Amino acid sequence: MTIGNITVEQGLLLAPMEDVTDPPFRRICRRLGADIVYTEFISSEGLIRDARRSLQKLTVYDDERPVAIQIFGGRDEAMAESARKAEEAGPDFIDINCGCWVKNVVARNAGAGLLKDPPAMQRIVRSVVEATKLPVTVKTRLGWDRSSIVITEVAQMLEDVGIHALAIHCRTRDQGHEGITSWEYIEQVKKVVSIPVILNGDVKTPQDVLRGFETGTDAVMIGRAAIGNPWIFQQAKHYRATGQMLPTPDLNERLSTALDHLRMGMEYKGERLGLVEFRKYWGGYLHSMPLAAAVRKELVLMNDVEEIHSRIERYREEVEEFNRGKEE
Ligand SMILES: Cc1cc2nc3c(=O)[nH]c(=O)nc-3n(C[C@H](O)[C@H](O)[C@H](O)COP(=O)(O)O)c2cc1C
Repeated sequence: MTIGNITVEQGLLLAPMEDVTDPPFRRICRRLGADIVYTEFISSEGLIRDARRSLQKLTVYDDERPVAIQIFGGRDEAMAESARKAEEAGPDFIDINCGCWVKNVVARNAGAGLLKDPPAMQRIVRSVVEATKLPVTVKTRLGWDRSSIVITEVAQMLEDVGIHALAIHCRTRDQGHEGITSWEYIEQVKKVVSIPVILNGDVKTPQDVLRGFETGTDAVMIGRAAIGNPWIFQQAKHYRATGQMLPTPDLNERLSTALDHLRMGMEYKGERLGLVEFRKYWGGYLHSMPLAAAVRKELVLMNDVEEIHSRIERYREEVEEFNRGKEE
């Protein structure tokens, strides 16, 4: 698939996730095989008011490219102006969120709220396409609910206004993040548009990635499965190429990736906030490792990076001793 000057064949994309896909996490996922990454969604109303948090989310690093900045909103002018601001931050393309299901977003006719009014969605998307020289893509859902699936009409309407690709979270708005995903709609959408179509929703394993591509999708986008396991991208690529599963990363690789992620988080957010916001990742990095529960409980309470490093060193020794005990 090609989006502007980015070409990836059967690419694996990191889904935009609020409070997760900040620059440190995106850089880790790129290193571990994600082909394209997305920022968290950014409020257009926040951007046009220069809200500090919204502006901070515009930061992109060269080593994470290709990267998309995702914006959302329910007013054309605010979306157009925020697209111009996003463009100044230098992403590779701009993505519009037309899929967020949370109440305070849909209440402002933004996110998945636009699925109730496809012409409004088209208007908003057009205003962004016209405001920027960058390629524009959209991420949306199948429809508002099962009785109003509009994805094929929406795909055509958005292709008509010039989007470069469409990512589809294969659920309706009323499903939130739960319940069955309906990947079969990808095939239907592929029949009616010629832009790339990206499958999203419940891709959790390398086997799921392979099944996803059987729908004819141009790329697969992975969200939650990457939070606990950012190695999923390289695992899925290896599985696709060889039919073999890579061994799960060992303790050393997990700890060095975690510490690198933590370091980048502290550089980006400052030491205190970087440490606090990293706490949600310890569970994933330590997953399935021996003696993990106890060390995780301690790590999530620590506020000092030196203390974390020395606890990790002690943990390595504990695991070595544990493994020696098993051999004896
Ligand atoms: C914590 C969290 C935050 C999310 N934030 C966003 C967001 O900012 N923008 C967006 O388009 N989707 C967001 N989503 C939806 C995901 O991008 C994705 O569509 C959804 O999780 C389904 O994919 P998955 O099953 O691979 O996780 C979020 C999902 C989660 C779990």
